Amino acid sequence: MPAEPRPADAYQFTLDALRDAGLDHDPDFRARLDRHFATLFHEFSGVYGDHPALLPELAQIVGLAARSWQERSAGLKALDAAREADPDWFKSERMLGGVAYVDRYAGTLAGIRDRIPYFEELGLTYLHLMPPFQTPEGPNDGGYAVSSYREIDPKLGTMAELETLAATLRERGISLTLDFVFNHTSNEHEWARRALAGEPEYEAYYRIYPDRALPDRFDRTTREIFPDDHRGSFVQLPDGRWIWSTFYGFQWDLNYANPAVFRAMAGEMLFLANRGVEVLRMDAVAFVWKELGTPCESLPQVHRLLRAFNALCRIAAPAMVFKSEAIVHPDEVVSYVDAAECQISYNPLVMALSWEALATRDARLLQLAFERRQALAPGCTWVNYVRSHDDIGWTFADEEAAELGLNGADHRRFLNAFYTGRFPGSFAKGQPFQANPFTGDCRIAGTTASLAGLGEDEGGERRVVLLHAIALTSAGIPLLYLGDEVGQPNDDSYLTRPAEADDSRWLHRPFRPDALYAARCDAATAAGRIHAALRHLISIRKQTPALGGTASHGFWTGNRHVLGFLRPERGGVLVLANVSDEPQTVSAERFQALPALATDLVSDAAVNLTQDVTLPAHGFLWIALSLNPYSA
Ligand code: GLC
Ligand code: GLC
Repeated sequence: MPAEPRPADAYQFTLDALRDAGLDHDPDFRARLDRHFATLFHEFSGVYGDHPALLPELAQIVGLAARSWQERSAGLKALDAAREADPDWFKSERMLGGVAYVDRYAGTLAGIRDRIPYFEELGLTYLHLMPPFQTPEGPNDGGYAVSSYREIDPKLGTMAELETLAATLRERGISLTLDFVFNHTSNEHEWARRALAGEPEYEAYYRIYPDRALPDRFDRTTREIFPDDHRGSFVQLPDGRWIWSTFYGFQWDLNYANPAVFRAMAGEMLFLANRGVEVLRMDAVAFVWKELGTPCESLPQVHRLLRAFNALCRIAAPAMVFKSEAIVHPDEVVSYVDAAECQISYNPLVMALSWEALATRDARLLQLAFERRQALAPGCTWVNYVRSHDDIGWTFADEEAAELGLNGADHRRFLNAFYTGRFPGSFAKGQPFQANPFTGDCRIAGTTASLAGLGEDEGGERRVVLLHAIALTSAGIPLLYLGDEVGQPNDDSYLTRPAEADDSRWLHRPFRPDALYAARCDAATAAGRIHAALRHLISIRKQTPALGGTASHGFWTGNRHVLGFLRPERGGVLVLANVSDEPQTVSAERFQALPALATDLVSDAAVNLTQDVTLPAHGFLWIALSLNPYSA
């Protein structure tokens, strides 16, 4: 094994390589490299320290970054400077995200551009477009089987249009979010085709095994993600060999043990950064490193790789931040909440437990999440969502459920029965996703409105608003699934489309509900009422500094049906939310430490906190406390 190079030697080696390539002239780049090289080297050598070509690989990656910086537009460099001057930009109370499929919501990228006035009406500052890249015809996991990171699906438009769209959004104060689907490529990506054709260089991009010996050993400790598609984590190639495939069989996992893969993907990442992506969603992040005898999720090398990718962005695209998509156990979710890894993270626990609370009419498990699991590392924030384009999985900690006398497995079974409408009296109209008969595991598909029982009982509309009221006040960026703000229902037309019929998540990915949008100003419709309610809440959020920032504590209401949490900064807001179908009271004693008089921001009415406070069924209060700003 070669002796471990010292950081200073590695830096000199890299600078020499830059000079030889004529890439050493930009003082800005050099200053950033000075600042972040040590991290890049530390993480990169932590993963690839044994590799004989460690230094040349690293120097090539830095060369890519230098070229990428040279090519970065003046507009994006101005954004870099603005973001560096205001690194907390994404913690503002003005932040509001929206997510949509380009084709389903607007037909094409040009169609998305035409929707910008609506995005502005709604107040979006962040737009996540589902992966718009080239994919295989037919099933492609809604774009998550990428055949080229540099080409847009021709049905949606071109890369030039994407770049223009990003710039237009940026001018309007909307940050474009795109996925970095970096755990896998489609089986039609050029690398995959060349691997299949037997080119050793590209075979080494994937994890291909001659027989079942290693796959069987790996399968003993890994989780099955899409068991409807294939058992275990491997699929067989036409020549009989086995290839690692965590998700669909046409999605082949990249082999990050090979530094060439890291280098290639760093190039794709910087390419996307230079197109104007401001938030990069790190898709399926937990899965990128594999090690025999482990679950192959969230291993230490995943964190090192993220830090190395992140350091490269600080060097060559500093405006771009990462969002982790780790829909896993809450202990694991927080492992990515680190400004050196992902500045932004989905908050799947509050999402899932908000639904849990509506089903049980009991807010205690959700309350525990607010009490124990909302703290954020410096420089980080959550994305709070009611549901996403994916299924809902019950990712709470079993130990916490046990504290409330609940058995985790039984409780998940109950929740699955409840949300698929198989529990007597359930208001929900969801469908199972990837029910695994071998493990009993199952996740839930359905739109917000259909899962909340809109049109099913009189609480449906209120539940939709209540869930959004929680997401809009939790610490972080609220993210709407576009169409949910007009109460879009499930769409089972996917069953008639062969490429979608086997994946029930399409149930909750409807086409833009034009008729509901047309009714959005009509208070005689549920769409109109939901829209008006959410618009109102959004506008309050944007005017309430206490709802920005990241501080948040649980506030135990003494009533298991009423969730409470406090956003203590800048005046302070106490949020109370009744998850039950009956009015509920919080006793005056609970408010003893708070000012006597306060205001509910939602109704603008005074609240007397020396008396009991009663909330109607599914009611909520955003109580402005006017705390001394210096006391927080
Ligand atoms: C992420 C995406 C999901 C996709 C998977 C594989 O979890 O959100 O839609 O199926 O990654 O890319
Ligand atoms: C699993 C994965 C998650 C992904 C989901 C897609 O839950 O952990 O990353 O979003 O599958 O269904």
